[in-house]
Amino acid sequence: MNTISIIGYGKMAKAIACGLNGKFRLEIIGRDKDKIEKFIKENNLLNTTSLNIQSTIDIKDKIIILAIKPYALEYFKYENQSKVVFNIMAGVSIAKLKNVLNSQSYCRVMPNIASLVGSGVSVIYSDNIETRQLAQDIFNVLGSSIFVDKEEHINSAGAISGSGPAYLGLVAEALVDAGVREGLSFELSTQLVNGLFDGFAKLLKVKIPNEIRYDTTSPGGTTIEGILELENSATRAAFINAVSAAHKKAKTLS
Ligand SMILES: NC(=O)c1ccc[n+]([C@@H]2O[C@H](COP(=O)([O-])OP(=O)(O)OC[C@H]3O[C@@H](n4cnc5c(N)ncnc54)[C@H](OP(=O)(O)O)[C@@H]3O)[C@@H](O)[C@H]2O)c1
Repeated sequence: MNTISIIGYGKMAKAIACGLNGKFRLEIIGRDKDKIEKFIKENNLLNTTSLNIQSTIDIKDKIIILAIKPYALEYFKYENQSKVVFNIMAGVSIAKLKNVLNSQSYCRVMPNIASLVGSGVSVIYSDNIETRQLAQDIFNVLGSSIFVDKEEHINSAGAISGSGPAYLGLVAEALVDAGVREGLSFELSTQLVNGLFDGFAKLLKVKIPNEIRYDTTSPGGTTIEGILELENSATRAAFINAVSAAHKKAKTLS
């Protein structure tokens, strides 16, 4: 059983650690001892050790998942050479990482928060076959993995699947509000939206979005009235612009 060293104990580290719990030995590394201990306890992490570091982390031969904020990368110093670094930080390129930390192999991964429930999608880039295999062994446990053959595609993919849960969260919230405005209780409206997302995710596996839209939109019916309002509000352009803005921001972090 490999040991995976996770640097960070935030939201994404939690999603990853909970998914890998019991399947790998874990080591949680960070600068706040109390936060690490709380993280291990609250998430019932098994086979897990902790490493409280104020400045220099000895990374010798470790398999590391870097799950801190991009601006925090240089808070730590990294001594010796790690085996593999899985860098999940939005926008931080392998070239940038190489200036900070020495590793036998580097891998960019853009996971998403659905890893917490075993339904994440992780977009992965590495030019090393063994690292790709290890990445698959780790990130498939959290859901599914998609490999890209150009590192720059991590930033564009991240702007969709990494940030996507926030966009869909906004859509879900708006639909709940819409139900409330139409006189439904918050609970009922939430239940409807949950069911809607659940069913939609399953439908997407067998139909393309356009088909789902046309199957729901009868001529002269109610749904086309709603679609017209969404088009009047430039919803499609708003999503395209949102992804473009997230991608642009990621590029500034490279
Ligand atoms: N959340 C997502 O959906 C998602 C998806 C894909 C990728 N990511 C990537 O995952 C990484 C972590 O994101 P998150 O959402 O988990 O953030 P988070 O919940 O805010 O956690 C941030 C982590 O970074 C550490 N940190 C922050 N500032 C630091 C500093 N100056 N020095 C040392 N450590 C510092 C925090 O430790 P302290 O508490 O000690 O500050 C904490 O462990 C980011 O790079 C992000 O791009 C996130």
